[in-house]
Amino acid sequence: MNGRDLVRSVKSVGSRQGLRTVRSAWRRSRADARALPSRGPERARVPGPVVGAEPGPGGGVVRFARSELSVRVAVGGAVFWGWDGAEPLPSYALPGPAPDADPRAVLEPDKDGGWQVVSERLTVAVSRHGAVELRTPGGVVLRREQPPRWWEPVAGGSARWVQRSEVPADARFFGLGGRAAGPRLRDGVYGLWNTDPGGRFGPGDDPLYLTMPVQLVVSDAGTHLAFHDNSWAGRVTLREGEEGAGSGHDRPGMSEVRMDGGPLRCWVVAGTPARVLQGWTALTGAPALPPSWALGPQHARWGFGSGREVRRIVSGYRERGLPLSVLHLDVDHYDAHRVFTVDRERFPDLPGLAEALRGDGVRLVSIVDPAVPAAPGNAVFDAGTAVGASGAFVRDARGGIVRGEVWPGECVYPDFTDPRVREWWGGLYAERLAQGFSGVWHDMNEPVSFAAFGDTTLPRSARHSLEGRGGDHREAHNVYGLAMARAGYEGLCRLRPDERPFLFSRSGWAGMQRYGGTWSGDVSTGWPGLRASLALVLGLGLCGVPYSGPDVGGFDGSPSPEMYLRWFQLGAYLPLFRTHAAIDAGRREPWEFGPRVLDAAREVLLERERLRPYWVTLAQLARLTGAPYVRPLWWGAPGDRALRECEDAFLLGDALLVAPVLGPGVAERAVRLPAGRWYDTVSGAVHEGPGQVVVEAPLSRVPVLARAGSVIPVRGADGGLELEVWAPAEGRSGGGWVVRDTGDGWEPAVVERYTTRLVGGRVVVERDGEEGLVDCPVRVRGL
Ligand code: GLC
Repeated sequence: MNGRDLVRSVKSVGSRQGLRTVRSAWRRSRADARALPSRGPERARVPGPVVGAEPGPGGGVVRFARSELSVRVAVGGAVFWGWDGAEPLPSYALPGPAPDADPRAVLEPDKDGGWQVVSERLTVAVSRHGAVELRTPGGVVLRREQPPRWWEPVAGGSARWVQRSEVPADARFFGLGGRAAGPRLRDGVYGLWNTDPGGRFGPGDDPLYLTMPVQLVVSDAGTHLAFHDNSWAGRVTLREGEEGAGSGHDRPGMSEVRMDGGPLRCWVVAGTPARVLQGWTALTGAPALPPSWALGPQHARWGFGSGREVRRIVSGYRERGLPLSVLHLDVDHYDAHRVFTVDRERFPDLPGLAEALRGDGVRLVSIVDPAVPAAPGNAVFDAGTAVGASGAFVRDARGGIVRGEVWPGECVYPDFTDPRVREWWGGLYAERLAQGFSGVWHDMNEPVSFAAFGDTTLPRSARHSLEGRGGDHREAHNVYGLAMARAGYEGLCRLRPDERPFLFSRSGWAGMQRYGGTWSGDVSTGWPGLRASLALVLGLGLCGVPYSGPDVGGFDGSPSPEMYLRWFQLGAYLPLFRTHAAIDAGRREPWEFGPRVLDAAREVLLERERLRPYWVTLAQLARLTGAPYVRPLWWGAPGDRALRECEDAFLLGDALLVAPVLGPGVAERAVRLPAGRWYDTVSGAVHEGPGQVVVEAPLSRVPVLARAGSVIPVRGADGGLELEVWAPAEGRSGGGWVVRDTGDGWEPAVVERYTTRLVGGRVVVERDGEEGLVDCPVRVRGL
């Protein structure tokens, strides 16, 4: 059966696999009914009145009649609080031990019988009924968490809880992982349960593959990130506030986090957006640095029939002068969709193919799905059953191996929350490296089990190791993709210690950036899907995952030439540029859409390649500071409300503003500019911000503006490093950072700081304060 047949069979319930999806759904609900009896009567609980307090490192414990709250300010400024004895660990978001407590922060009595912890960046005030208020050093309220409420099953078991919070009336919400409806999260309910929407999604679909309880809130009072560290299923209800505008009271913004179980604990990081992301990635881990080649153009499609097809595509790119850096092989190169085996009829010599492509500067990346065919005799299945005492695969409450339904048919699932399983799985990547692959693409790892009804994942009662603590899928589900990424990343590090792994994954959770990036998944072809592509990248960047991108062209259908090109142009300015489509979506090579599209596609890809040193710099800076490459327009001016409303343009690093076209029939478009002077990078036209301007946006190009004074490292005509400097306005200065490519290994980054000034009509460029230290050609533009 080929992939196309498979799609058809999944669609029609009459087919064999269709029937199996009915059986699989039924099996799942039966397992849950047996192992997770209904909660029965519940008792509600609130903390009750305060009864005492005890100082401790970085804060202390405040005791209430029916709960206790520990508050701790960490070195670096992040604030933690946990109810009912919840501590920072264990946590899948934190990579190692919890950060040390800041000894300067102490718990002291506050007015009205409350308590407070004063720290450098935040004051945490705990009311006598258990509300937690966060204030800036100036006393302005950033967030107020009301006393939580729990519901405990009378018969025992995990409590579910709700935590309502208020934020300022002008606040805007962002984040919660990858949300198609973003980047600004308007009033609504957002699910916390990583989900495959089943073939394609648009802006109305929620949740998607990668959710996380991370909200970034921007208001005049300041920016903060709140992370409710809990991997159980939940829902976040958001309602933006409204200002009275002189004729009434302000209505604050509202966030309500509801969780089906698990600890009630929260981290908050506050400051400027840059500081918040720095603090957040200090807490959850620095983003993995993609090798430079992963910043080049990438091509994928589900349904490359053979090695010959792959060569045809690579030559197609070369003959037409289109740069190409990576080619992805989807499930169809597997032997009957088995993991870690190759279909030798269609790909008789994969290592040879990989080597030949490498000679042309093209790397191969392999898809890896977690599900293993449940077939004795399958090498991975057999080896998995022999891992440890109980085997590598997720089991049900009665000890049987949980079976699901994926591309190969009946499958079993490695339990990546078990360190031994991660180690075993990571070792399997040796086979991928031996086949000549340079990186991996993790898919279907929510994880997916096709089902005719209900959830398309494992039974909630399925058992997991959870690092030896033991628990079930209710707690493990949302971190499954994250733990698989860890297995892959650490495996690749062990197998090829001199090279940085390249890994990106469809599912994940808070901390995902430590192991790699992500992509949109099956974003639906259409203008709303194009818009959602940008929303996902912006939102994920604000959650600490800076490397992502969409399926350029959309996954599931045939884009018009215009739509394909506009998607291509947007993608060319997002960290992961990759064309991809479903098996039945038809050919997607850039030359399939006519000569106009081909010419414009070539132009934008060549420009992306010219900017490669800038991309490398942005990747390095993301690793060092947590700042995403792609940032909302308000990044440097969160107090600018007009910028906060703007969702159709973005900053690429500090220097560039990209205003993609997100709809049909556009020849010019309005752009809202942050303060300062901006140059149209093609026409050289000068625009002054803040304010709104109209720029040309012909089909042939995407409008890109450069900030006056900026220094952009680019590839010169001879391939060497060159600095493109955009003239500062008279009397103003500017600058930028450059981090040179140090190869695919682990060499530490050297950050070069440049400044620019306009002196007597001449642009002076200095490195570390000296003109003489500038050792590469400088090209001044905009004078
Ligand atoms: C999933 C992935 C998609 C891939 C397909 C086949 O739908 O999201 O990218 O092409 O599976 O492997």
